[in-house]
Amino acid sequence: MDKIMSLSKRRGFVFQSSEIYGGLASTWDYGPLGVELKRHVKEAWWQSVIVGRDDMVGLDAAILMAPQVWVASGHVENFSDPLVECRSCHLRFRADQLETEKCPECGGEFTEPRRFNLMFRTFMGPVEDTGHEVFLRPETAQGIFVNFQNVLNSSRKKLPFGIGQIGKAFRNEITPGNFTFRTREFEQMEVEFFVKPGTDEEWLQSWVEERFNWYVSYGIRRDNLRLRRHDPDELAHYAKDTYDIEYRFPWGWGELEGIADRTDFDLQRHAEASGEDLTYFDEEDRERYLPYVIEPSGGVDRATLAFWLDSYDEEPDGETVRVVSHLHRKLAPVTVAVLPLSRNARLAPTARNVHNLLRRHFSTQFDDAQSVGRRYRRQDEIGTPYCVTVDFDTLDDHQVTIRDRDTMNQVRVSIAELVYILQDKVEH
Ligand code: GAP
Repeated sequence: MDKIMSLSKRRGFVFQSSEIYGGLASTWDYGPLGVELKRHVKEAWWQSVIVGRDDMVGLDAAILMAPQVWVASGHVENFSDPLVECRSCHLRFRADQLETEKCPECGGEFTEPRRFNLMFRTFMGPVEDTGHEVFLRPETAQGIFVNFQNVLNSSRKKLPFGIGQIGKAFRNEITPGNFTFRTREFEQMEVEFFVKPGTDEEWLQSWVEERFNWYVSYGIRRDNLRLRRHDPDELAHYAKDTYDIEYRFPWGWGELEGIADRTDFDLQRHAEASGEDLTYFDEEDRERYLPYVIEPSGGVDRATLAFWLDSYDEEPDGETVRVVSHLHRKLAPVTVAVLPLSRNARLAPTARNVHNLLRRHFSTQFDDAQSVGRRYRRQDEIGTPYCVTVDFDTLDDHQVTIRDRDTMNQVRVSIAELVYILQDKVEH
């Protein structure tokens, strides 16, 4: 983990937020490579869950919502953790995660546990009183539920169908930590899939399988993933059943995504609180009902971290070690690096032309500093699957060399076919 954290900073994946002011605890910024990796994770999700399915549509709802949403959803009442404070050093802990009865920091006594609501509050407009209080959403899901009728009416979808979105969520976690695993500001990728009551259990199994396979198909080793069903006493206030997809992080198993059967809990609560009719008329069965909901809800930051950790490798290479990230070719921050054999005035125009050709189709990087061997190593370290080398022969035969990160094999191809050949490699 330490290696990944230091590599993350050195190569521009993740920086401590507000670092020049000493940093803000458990808050992270994605640097030039991190933002590309995270963008590719989100694109892979969007492609698989929205674009690739006939029964899904997308949405991008606002972070700020009417305060009544959070009363109806049960978050004002239930979205809390038990908090204790050390009477001596005043550090705060989640009571349900403590393994000792004394403060682990100073050995002091704890106060009695009290419920601490995890929602961030702020005020809308210039007046700061409870009448103007709004919450930063703790899950993106509610933006989907309150738009259920809008989407149904505008897209003319029929059940079963789902709505997915990616967006920021905020939770005032008592004990954030483990790098980007648990933070107070994070991104979620969530689906609310609306089904006929009675078919929910089957749909839950289908989504569990589909989401598990998604992580495997983008490169996470099966051995490092597991499914865990929630015990009845750990189910969220809205859930009838839930499976977590967990990853074996360096500190132990941790949740990447939860797939829950939320029944009609949310639609029912919103229908009651808003007075709107949120039922669905099933034309085939000639009946009206409130749909049940299956919710696959994943964390973008956790998925990004897991893909990054799982891909890290150190391979013996003669006297040295090759540090290589085997990131999936569609997730790697840089898909193709263009490397002229040396920094040379004769090679530069052709190398730049090749780069300009490729950057229209792929995430690319141009690098002509230092020896080509060192540049290959730099690209291996950040997971670039393909390096294209332009050498002096290129000037005569209009061919370049593609070097494969995993096999280190090199093939010579014509520039005219380069885009097509690389596209084929990335897709298959
Ligand atoms: N709408 C359901 C929901 O929000 P959740 O299990 O509380 O369910 C879903 O959150 C996912 O969001 C988690 O599986 C995790 O990947 C991510 N997540 C939750 N809290 C997080 C935090 N504090 N930091 C980073 N990611 C978090």
